[in-house]
Amino acid sequence: SLPSRVQLIDVGPRDGLQNEKQPVPAAVKIELVHRLQAAGLTEIEVTSFVSPKWVPQMADNAEVMGGIQRQAGVRYSVLTPNLQGFEAALKTRPDEIVVFGAASEAFSHKNINCSIAESIERFAPVVQAALAAGIAVRGAMSCTVGCPYEGDVAPERVAYLAGLMKQIGVQRVDVADTIGVGTPLRVQKAIEATLQHFDVDHVCGHFHDTYGQALSNTLAALQMGVRNFQSSVAGLGGCPYAKGATGNVSTEDVVYMLHGMGIATGIDLDKLVDAGAFISDFLGRKPNSNVAKAILNK
Ligand code: HMG
Ligand code: MG
Repeated sequence: SLPSRVQLIDVGPRDGLQNEKQPVPAAVKIELVHRLQAAGLTEIEVTSFVSPKWVPQMADNAEVMGGIQRQAGVRYSVLTPNLQGFEAALKTRPDEIVVFGAASEAFSHKNINCSIAESIERFAPVVQAALAAGIAVRGAMSCTVGCPYEGDVAPERVAYLAGLMKQIGVQRVDVADTIGVGTPLRVQKAIEATLQHFDVDHVCGHFHDTYGQALSNTLAALQMGVRNFQSSVAGLGGCPYAKGATGNVSTEDVVYMLHGMGIATGIDLDKLVDAGAFISDFLGRKPNSNVAKAILNK
């Protein structure tokens, strides 16, 4: 049966902006976060503490985290691939940190420069330190359906990674379709594999919309009882280490679908569209969201 309420995590400031070539000033990122929380988002993935040589756009991570006027009840998360990133992140008091691995070996190497097994070894002390500091821990699992380097990824690979994430103490995981090649039944298989190790309330759907399947995949996950989803305001984004992948499904499109199904999100769609228009104007383009375009053209 379908949930009556869904929790959305907007990853636009991080997953969305990380791939932008033009520098986005910290003040613009901070304003985007403010607009998202004003629109009712209660989880926002703000930035990542990764190597600035790998992802220059996220080099202002501490400045952005420091500039946000935090709102009670909002959870601010950041990506931390290793202890160095975690220690830098810790000073900025995130509510949740995200370690990020991949179900495909090739993607693991391209994205974080190590094997899956090595990544888990690196994550383990990060997870331990975060939990000891009272910070929640999420694990992102990339390429759970397909990989830009290896092609199709078997559900067994997803189950393997989910099991390792569970073993090191990760509290919840993102089932990510990094390059947006998934279709509903394949996404359900990836989620099913994850459910061998995590209960459904600790699984988040993270669907990129490269092939236009992300809303269908969201519905397919909802039908399995998944109630947590990541999406990106204005459909911002892509991954710098997944060539051709476009942004996450837009938060506007997901909210419109959910509200239309009578599922609550706590989000004000008009304010959300304004937030998306703000960042899209800055980037000099239209929001990559059908719902936003329809509302803005009314
Ligand atoms: P490495 O080169 O193997 O790291 O990179 P290293 O430990 O050998 O260190 C090399 C240099 O990097 C050193 O500097 C370190 O200080 C520095 P140098 O001595 O040469 O001047 N360094 C760092 N600097 C800042 N923060 C750090 C850090 N760590 C090392 N945390 C590393 C390994 C993981 C750091 C690198 O590969 C990296 O930064 N990768 C990030 C890739 C990334 O951000 N990808 C996008 C996010 S994942 C994603 O988008 C997918 C997701 O959305 C889900 C989905 O859709 O699939 C989550
Ligand atoms: Mg992503």
